[in-house]
Amino acid sequence: MGKNMTIQTEYHKLYPDLIKRMKLIVGEKGVLFDEGLENYARDEAPHSHNDLPEAVIFPRDTLEIAGILELANAELVPVTPRGAGTGLSGGAVPIYGGIVLSLEKMRRILEIDEENFCATAQAGAVLSKFCEEIDKHRLYYPLYPGEMSATIGGNVATNAGGMRAVKYGVTRNFVMGLKAVLPSGEIISTGGKYVKSSTGYDLTQLLTGSEGTLAIISEVTLRLINPPGSREILLIPFNSLSEAIRCVPIILKERILPVSIEFMEADILGLVKDYTGNEFPIPGYPAYLMLMIEVDNYDEFGSISERISEICLKNGAVDTYVPGSERAKRRLLETREKFYPTLQHRGMLDLADVVVPRSKIADFVEEVKQISRNYGIPVIAYGHAGDGNVHLHPLGPNIASASVIQDLQSEIYQAGIKMGGTISGEHGIGADKRKYMPLAVSPESIDLMKRVKKAFDPNNILNPGKVL
Ligand code: LAC
Ligand code: ZN
Repeated sequence: MGKNMTIQTEYHKLYPDLIKRMKLIVGEKGVLFDEGLENYARDEAPHSHNDLPEAVIFPRDTLEIAGILELANAELVPVTPRGAGTGLSGGAVPIYGGIVLSLEKMRRILEIDEENFCATAQAGAVLSKFCEEIDKHRLYYPLYPGEMSATIGGNVATNAGGMRAVKYGVTRNFVMGLKAVLPSGEIISTGGKYVKSSTGYDLTQLLTGSEGTLAIISEVTLRLINPPGSREILLIPFNSLSEAIRCVPIILKERILPVSIEFMEADILGLVKDYTGNEFPIPGYPAYLMLMIEVDNYDEFGSISERISEICLKNGAVDTYVPGSERAKRRLLETREKFYPTLQHRGMLDLADVVVPRSKIADFVEEVKQISRNYGIPVIAYGHAGDGNVHLHPLGPNIASASVIQDLQSEIYQAGIKMGGTISGEHGIGADKRKYMPLAVSPESIDLMKRVKKAFDPNNILNPGKVL
C-alpha cells in the first residue's frame, strides 16, 4: 500500500428486505425510516449540514450492534454512529446517507466499582446521569466537556477535553477499557480495571478519539476519583489579553494547579449580555482570566487565592473578584457556558479549536487578530488558557464566500501549527475540519492512518467522510 491510497466511497442503498432483516435484530421499534430522519441530519456544528440518513437504527446492546454492522458491511451500507448529537465538527452527520446508528437506547450504567475507582456504562449513557449515579457512591468523574447532555461514548469518540483539562487532562486520561464492535461484527474488549498495562498495542487509546471511524464503541469503563471538597472561582480583570495570558505559566510554576484557567475578552461578554441578559460581575475591562480551584476547605482557598492575586496584580491585573455566594458562582459559570450558544445565535461563520503550547496563546491570538483585520472579518477568541486550547469564531453576517472563510481558517490554522500547535484540541475533525488535516498531519502519517483505518474497516463503511 503506497501513498495516496484511495478509500472506497461507493455504497448501496437500503432496500425493503434489508430493513426487514435489521428489524429482526433490533426489533420493530429499533428502526426509523420514514419520518423524523431530519433530527439525525446534523449536529451542533456551525456548518449547516442537511444530510438525511436512509434509516436510523437504535440497538439496545453490543450484540445488536454486531448484528447490524455485519449486515451493513456485507451490503456496503455506510454507518454513522451518533450519541447525543452535541458534537461541533459534523462528526455525527451521515454525509453518505445509509444508516445512523443511534446509541440513545444504550444508556445504562452497568457497574460502579468503588474498590477499583471505576464505572462501566453503555456508550449512550448521558454524562449528567452518569455523574449523578456515581455521586451516590461518593465517586467523581472530573472532566467537564461543557455539555452534560453529551454521551460518554461521544466523549470517548472525540476525546473530549473541556474546561478542567489543566488539572485532569482529557477524556483519554480516564478511559480504562472499552467494548467495541468491528464492521465485521466481531466484538473486542480492550483494557480493563487496572492502572498499568504493558501488553501489546494500546487499542483503548487508539479507539479513543477515532470518531467512530474504526469501530463502534458500545461500552466504556471510566476511571473515577474521590470528589473534591469544594470548587471556588476567581475572576481577574486585565488591561490586555496578553498580560492575562502571560500570568498563566507563572501561576503554574508557583506550584498552584487550578482545575481550569479560562480567558475571555470584552467582545464575547458583550454578546453574551445582549443575548442572555446576564450581567458580568466586574464589567468594563478588556480581558479576564477565570480560574477554578478545588480545595478541601475555604481557608485553603483563601491562601491560594491570595497567592494567585499577588502574582496577577504584579503582572498587569487590575483587580481580583471572588463571587460571594453559590448563586454568584453559578451565574459566572453559566455566563462562560453560554459563549457557544450565544455565538450560534449571533451567526458565526465557522469555529476553530486550535491548540498551541500554553506559552504561545497570547502571540497566537495576536496573530489571529491581524489575520482577522486583513480579511475584514471579526474573529471572536476565547478559551482554555490553562491548556492552550483557543476557540475562534469568525462572525457574520458577511458577504464573504465560503472559500474566503476557508482561506481565513487556513491562515489561522497555519499560524497555530507554526507555533507548535495543531488544528483541533477537543472538538475533533469530523466532516468539517477534514479538509485542513493535511496542514497539520504529514502525508506519511495520513497514509499510515489510512492503513490503520483499512485494517479495522476494509470496506470503509464506518463514518465515511470523517477525519481522513
Ligand atoms: C467551549 C466549547 C465551544 O469551550 O468547546 O465553550
Ligand atoms: Zn472548549
